[in-house]
Amino acid sequence: MMTGPWLLYGANGYTGELVARLAVARGHHPILAGRKADAICALADELGLPRRLFSLDDPKRVDEGLAGMSLVLHCAGPFSRTSQAMAEACLHTRTHYLDITGEVTVFEALAARDGEARDAGIVVLPGSGFDVVPTDCLAVHLKGRLPSARRLALGFEALGRVSHGTALTALEGMGRGGLVRRDGVLTPVPSAWRTRTIDFGRGPRKAITIPWGDVSTAWHSTGIPQIEVYMAAPWPLRLFSRASRALGPLVSAGWSQRLLRQQVLAGPRGPSPTERQRGRAWVWGEAEDDRGRRAVSRLRTPEAYTFTARASLAALERVLAGEAPEGFQTPASAFGPDFVLGIEGVERHDDSGAPA
Ligand SMILES: NC(=O)c1ccc[n+]([C@@H]2O[C@H](COP(=O)([O-])OP(=O)(O)OC[C@H]3O[C@@H](n4cnc5c(N)ncnc54)[C@H](OP(=O)(O)O)[C@@H]3O)[C@@H](O)[C@H]2O)c1
Repeated sequence: MMTGPWLLYGANGYTGELVARLAVARGHHPILAGRKADAICALADELGLPRRLFSLDDPKRVDEGLAGMSLVLHCAGPFSRTSQAMAEACLHTRTHYLDITGEVTVFEALAARDGEARDAGIVVLPGSGFDVVPTDCLAVHLKGRLPSARRLALGFEALGRVSHGTALTALEGMGRGGLVRRDGVLTPVPSAWRTRTIDFGRGPRKAITIPWGDVSTAWHSTGIPQIEVYMAAPWPLRLFSRASRALGPLVSAGWSQRLLRQQVLAGPRGPSPTERQRGRAWVWGEAEDDRGRRAVSRLRTPEAYTFTARASLAALERVLAGEAPEGFQTPASAFGPDFVLGIEGVERHDDSGAPA
């Protein structure tokens, strides 16, 4: 395995720490980085790894922080606040950029820098976690099964708790409504705009549309012009999501964001090791063309944070081995639809009715 020098930024976060521990178990020797000296040094000492301490506020310091690196795996989010500074430094220093974002605005901002990334000779690969590796790979797989597809619906049902970072990132987006892709264009829709009954692999579930990363990435990886993403949602969540249409300005207000943030931070950092081990996720996709032909496929994956650590490292290893094209990439545009099948614990099933 090729292991150029690489840096893990946000290593003290819940997901960053999972990635750091798994990286060591897989024989990597990353530099751990972040802005909180105590937390980064404690983890680096425990794992016997080098460290670099810098915040993302001063561009010169970020460039220096990446000196000599082949790649950065960026795990510090919300990425709406961190991605631009890191991507900028990667372009200056010609360092491959990988992250674990699921934020549509971040994908779109990075896609717009495709030309600069190619000029710099680097790979820019956001979304190398649960959001969007499984859904992106399923999207490209479905496009392969039904090349004439014009409509794509993707979705997931995940069991288990979310981390502070995921909850705070979702909190930032609350009150902004939903997003779908319509005729190739990102189009705002109300929160929980559509409800559908979907069998993700465990029987029918009610699911609502959410502004998940694939409304950006699946367009880049498949060119299918109509895209919606669904999440299984029990009735209280469906009710809350619909209510948030009217409550939008209220939940976006500074004081209520501060209050909700406190609530999030008062809870556990993320799933416990037992919850991670027991958790699972089911991912579903449906492609349809203008003649009504349909193809449906499903994935079963490990728990979302375990999956994120495994998938981001698998992507990183392929980039370091020179197996990803330069420029902006989605996971499946970089490595193809079967990339997800190489991640431990993942199974894929196609509905037997062949599209015809
Ligand atoms: N794609 C996926 O499926 C997936 C999976 C897991 C996580 N995520 C995303 O990854 C992000 C992190 O999640 P987490 O669970 O690790 O959260 P977390 O435990 O709250 O950790 C957040 C990390 O980001 C750092 N950070 C936050 N804002 C920063 C800033 N402005 N400058 C520098 N560092 C900053 C924090 O550093 P400090 O300690 O110094 O604040 C910490 O290291 C979230 O956005 C989450 O949505 C995505």
